Amino acid sequence: MELNKAIFDRRSIRKYKDQPVSEEQIKELLWAASQAPSWTNSQPSRYFVAMGEARDAVADMLPEFNKNNVINAPVLIVSCVKKGTSGYGKDGVARSHLGDGFTYFDNGIAVQTLCLKALDMGFGTLIMGIYNEPAIREYFEIDDSLEIVCVISVGYPDIDPPARPRLSVDQLAVFKK
Ligand SMILES: Cc1cc2nc3c(=O)[nH]c(=O)nc-3n(C[C@H](O)[C@H](O)[C@H](O)COP(=O)(O)O)c2cc1C
Repeated sequence: MELNKAIFDRRSIRKYKDQPVSEEQIKELLWAASQAPSWTNSQPSRYFVAMGEARDAVADMLPEFNKNNVINAPVLIVSCVKKGTSGYGKDGVARSHLGDGFTYFDNGIAVQTLCLKALDMGFGTLIMGIYNEPAIREYFEIDDSLEIVCVISVGYPDIDPPARPRLSVDQLAVFKK
């Protein structure tokens, strides 16, 4: 898919076809996510993939509105980070005023890469920041070294939503010459 089309056609998808997605296809998405840049190539992101019965279990760990958004989506990916990975030197001292912020920054880049790859493969995605964190942590036995960041649904879109409004470049940026 042409890059411009991917950037401008990506939408949050909240209605999915009842159509399966294979483990191989999800691995392809995660491989794409692994190509994203990260602080000193520290690669803080980790993923827990829920398919089949696990998908239904994780869907029950979403608030009702998000559960309704992902009806029929066959795969839910829990995106996590290894805490304290990005933004630090080998001595463990933060190199930036953002502290652990770059760990989450890196996860965001990886997740957007995953979403764009998903679009290229004909899938829709929804990034969800609201979920039952303790329940997901217990279900996948996620230890304290990891922080859960978001849940991403993956499936074939059954809707073609219009673009949501964006701030103009003039609202976003200051140029000084
Ligand atoms: C970090 C993050 C968390 C989000 N959480 C949710 C969510 O819990 N539920 C939901 O329906 N959409 C969620 N969204 C989707 C946003 O609402 C959506 O990206 C935004 O409205 C722009 O629409 P678009 O993605 O179609 O361009 C989230 C997006 C991001 C990046």
